[in-house]
Amino acid sequence: MKRLTVPAIRDRKGKDPIVMLTAYTTRMAQLLDPHCDVLLVGDSLAQVIYGLPSTLPVTLDMMIAHGAAVVRGSWHSLVVVDMPFGSYEQSPEQAFASAARVLAETGAAGVKMEGGETLAPTVEFLTKRGIPVVGHVGLTPQAVNALGGYGARGRSNAEHAQIIDDARAIAAAGAFGIVVEGVVETLAREITAAVSCPVIGIGASAECDGQVLVIDDMLGMFERTARFVKKYDDLAGRISAAVETYAADVRSRTFPGPDQVYAPRD
Ligand code: KIV
Ligand code: NA
Repeated sequence: MKRLTVPAIRDRKGKDPIVMLTAYTTRMAQLLDPHCDVLLVGDSLAQVIYGLPSTLPVTLDMMIAHGAAVVRGSWHSLVVVDMPFGSYEQSPEQAFASAARVLAETGAAGVKMEGGETLAPTVEFLTKRGIPVVGHVGLTPQAVNALGGYGARGRSNAEHAQIIDDARAIAAAGAFGIVVEGVVETLAREITAAVSCPVIGIGASAECDGQVLVIDDMLGMFERTARFVKKYDDLAGRISAAVETYAADVRSRTFPGPDQVYAPRD
């Protein structure tokens, strides 16, 4: 199976919806790959893998380690790696150096960066130098301190207008896709209609050009998640039940059973 390319994803604008999920590990990438178009190595690994309170402490080395793991576990999906907080905001040159490491050391095809109009010159700098970029506007979790929380964005007229301008600027700068997160549904539809690149929604609208979810959220690994998460399974419950059974088996000496022990030679 040939891996999807950046132009192939860009061409999906207004056509078949783009299927995207986050992945952080090789085995999960192997399981998701046949069903997805894009695997996102999200900096949400902060909370999902490392138990950190926000995405701010994530380092470039962490993203590179998990990015390489996901590339090793996939053959078909295009892999995009999040640029972590502090690795790209200072200047286009800083962003290029960080993103070049990500592409060179992981084998991923592109990077994702959070930001709007202010970030547009950086997006242009990278795309003109061979680094495909996915934008991320609306609720941008790396800005949690400035935003004051993770609430939905675009409810006031001023915020609504700013987020549209942000998406337009990132698209005009050459992004091959834009993630729109946590905005009112009508705004997500407006953005999708307003920009020429695919818009991938999360807490956005079914009218977007694709959807993304955090894999552990959609599998039901957490008790509490955002409104926009649809739980497709209850892995947390199933893992707890399996481990409860194992613990009972150990305590009752019913594990290991005859099938799990080695017989003596002949
Ligand atoms: O880090 C992440 O998982 C993301 C997606 C939620 C878009 O950025
Ligand atoms: Na992210």
